[in-house]
Amino acid sequence: MADRFELFGGKRVVVTGGLGFIGSNLARRLVDLGADVLLIDSLVPEYGGNLFNVADIQDRLTVNISDVRDEYSLRYLVRDCDYLFNLAGQTSHLDSMQNPFADLEINCRAQLSILEVCRHHNPAVRIVFASTRQIYGRPDYLPVDEQHPVRPVDVNGINKMAGEWYHILYNNVYGLRAAALRLTNTIGPRMRVKDARQTFVGVWVRNVIEGGEIEVWGGDQLRDFNYVDDVVDALLLAALSDDASGRVFNLAGESPISLTDLASMLAEVGGSGRPVVRAFPEDRRRIDIGDYYADASLIERVLGWKPRVPLRDGLQRTVAFYRTHLAHYL
Ligand SMILES: NC(=O)c1ccc[n+]([C@@H]2O[C@H](COP(=O)([O-])OP(=O)(O)OC[C@H]3O[C@@H](n4cnc5c(N)ncnc54)[C@H](O)[C@@H]3O)[C@@H](O)[C@H]2O)c1
Repeated sequence: MADRFELFGGKRVVVTGGLGFIGSNLARRLVDLGADVLLIDSLVPEYGGNLFNVADIQDRLTVNISDVRDEYSLRYLVRDCDYLFNLAGQTSHLDSMQNPFADLEINCRAQLSILEVCRHHNPAVRIVFASTRQIYGRPDYLPVDEQHPVRPVDVNGINKMAGEWYHILYNNVYGLRAAALRLTNTIGPRMRVKDARQTFVGVWVRNVIEGGEIEVWGGDQLRDFNYVDDVVDALLLAALSDDASGRVFNLAGESPISLTDLASMLAEVGGSGRPVVRAFPEDRRRIDIGDYYADASLIERVLGWKPRVPLRDGLQRTVAFYRTHLAHYL
């Protein structure tokens, strides 16, 4: 796998949302591979972007603080890249219910305008879109494969679904090469820990470091988790492979775990924090998807991807990162 990634050496690569959690981890890998990397990020304070995520590599890449909703700057910025990793997004399910139009503009309309820019100004680009397991809604069966119906339970899921399908449509109709990965819960260094907008696990990591309660809502729900380095591998593989064009792939964790067990594992690896189980707040319960874990056999078959970092190790690495750097994320 590592040998194939050397193909990114010297290539011009744009990452939208590149100052965020997954985007910055991807950017770090790409600069190590010798790519010429441009990050586009609006740094909206409520989202996961953080300049500290690339502070130590800032002289090895270019950062452009701009908004993917601005099609004029996008036209200029993506016109001559070889690869476009399209990760900019509003990630909070609850925010999408409280402010549905911001979610619509970013996760849906801006995606279409990025694709229009590529169609007119850079049709040879290869694009990978970060989609989400959220679009399946409450599963009919487990594990969820790509044949499962999509039935989003919140505004964010609907807009991410549209964003994903625009990519596939532009691949099929206009010959742009685009693939989408339906990410499951991703953890790792540089995730948002300030609040639960990106993931509740971020808040739990902070609880562990601060030695407080780890509040678990419900607790029996099953979920699967990927460590961010594995997600970066999947993004790179999807960008390089012709077999990925026009296709949608699930990512999945090694095996499912209940949230109560996850909280206990986190407290154990962190050596602090006390899990407490509480009832779901009503506004969250209404959009909760219950148990979810995915079948990722398609991406394993087509692209040779499977997760390699065990959950416990991923949690350990994440806690270690925030023990040193928490102040930059509050
Ligand atoms: N983290 C997960 O568990 C997870 C799960 C499923 C899907 N995803 C998807 O992966 C992508 C990356 O997520 P993440 O976890 O790194 O979140 P993140 O919030 O850390 O990263 C998203 C980045 O996009 C930027 N952004 C938001 N709106 C923008 C705009 N209008 N213009 C330019 N930049 C903008 C933010 O500033 C942020 O840096 C998102 O599209 C998300 O939907 C993530």
